[in-house]
Amino acid sequence: MKKKWKIGLGVCGGIAAYKAVEVLRQLQKADCEVQVAMTKEATQFVQPLTFRALTNKYVFVDDYAPDNPDPIAHVNFSQNIDLLLIVPATANIIAKFANGIADDFLTSTYLASTAPVMIAPAMNTAMWNHPATQRNIRRLKEDGVYFIEPISGELACKTIGTGKLEEVQNIVKQVLDFLESKALSKQPATTDSVENFDLKDEHFLITTGSTREEIDPVRYISNYSSGKMGFAIALAAQKRGAKVTVIAGNLSISPPENLDIIKVKSAEEMHNAVMERIKDATVYVGAAAVADYKPVNRARSKIKKDSSKLIIELEKTKDILEEVSKNRHEKLLVIGFAAETENLENYAAEKMQKKNLDMIVANDVSNPSSGFGSDNNQGFILTKKGIKIEIPLMPKTMMAERIVEQISELIKLRQNLEKSENVDSKIESQS
Ligand code: CTP
Repeated sequence: MKKKWKIGLGVCGGIAAYKAVEVLRQLQKADCEVQVAMTKEATQFVQPLTFRALTNKYVFVDDYAPDNPDPIAHVNFSQNIDLLLIVPATANIIAKFANGIADDFLTSTYLASTAPVMIAPAMNTAMWNHPATQRNIRRLKEDGVYFIEPISGELACKTIGTGKLEEVQNIVKQVLDFLESKALSKQPATTDSVENFDLKDEHFLITTGSTREEIDPVRYISNYSSGKMGFAIALAAQKRGAKVTVIAGNLSISPPENLDIIKVKSAEEMHNAVMERIKDATVYVGAAAVADYKPVNRARSKIKKDSSKLIIELEKTKDILEEVSKNRHEKLLVIGFAAETENLENYAAEKMQKKNLDMIVANDVSNPSSGFGSDNNQGFILTKKGIKIEIPLMPKTMMAERIVEQISELIKLRQNLEKSENVDSKIESQS
């Protein structure tokens, strides 16, 4: 019987290589067909025979091995999979992937692969934190590679820190969620809608990033928002033909090219930039983490530490989302976010009602594997009409496609309503 997903599992040379065996077993139990490739170093830790016995398939290590059954194996291996998953990924393989080095079977497979790639790193904390490793990771993320972030714990070298392979069941969960959501987002988002540019008549106005509220010329109040989610939504809407304007606060990423971006600093500047442009928008998405309070008085010069306590009086900023919603023109859809650390569903539903939103995206920002700064997110979408869509842990780019898909459903509803109102008014004028 045909298996649900085909996964190429790349195993690298690290102590955690033995955990790849368990990842393989759990993926097989979840109806995945897995074929394994190993680096030469990985075979020092686990024998290819282990994987061969479990998969009943040849385990690729070396293109030139005399017993290799396929003369262009790295191409064939990479073209027939739904996902290339690397467990564990060493600093070395990350560096090679990031630089396009293809000097063995696994690295050639990575370059030849058109499938998405997920990498679960495991290494010593110093190697993980090294600027070279972090630079390579950033580059791979820019190339579209997904990371299953390592966790903190006791490492093989007996030190405690970040670099431990994520728990096997969490790796498998992230892989399956990823594949499921990719399959789902393919149905509506990549067939009809994308090719037909179904949002070509829409103008999205999106806020993203954090705002900075200055205390004095050198200090400010802000938050950890990176801007990733708002930009992911901007790109997903643009891909479907929408005109997009992004009002971006402070960012911890380089913004994508080919987007109309207006840079602002404070909540007040963001408010003014939004209000100036809102009349031309048909969809407003408030993805920014706007500061709720700002100092009543900004000191003109640097505050000196000459008293033992410093009290800064804060006042509320304007709620941009609420104001957009209150003053909306009739064609405008208003979508907000609810960033919460507890009671997600109740708070999100309350915010949607209080701010009179058409839709709200709720996410738990207390979870380090999702929310602020992370490449992944999870939560759910609530609509005014009472629809709830769960979003399991997935890359923000994919979550953005789901959000835009749901916005496009709201647009269709709005269009149908307009059509029926036109028919009603025609009937009235004829009678
Ligand atoms: N928001 C806004 N202007 C503000 C504060 C929030 O436009 N001054 C928007 C955010 O962009 C987001 C939504 O309101 O879309 C919810 O933001 P969130 O920080 O989750 O909640 P708050 O409304 O600020 O309420 P609280 O901090 O009490 O949870």
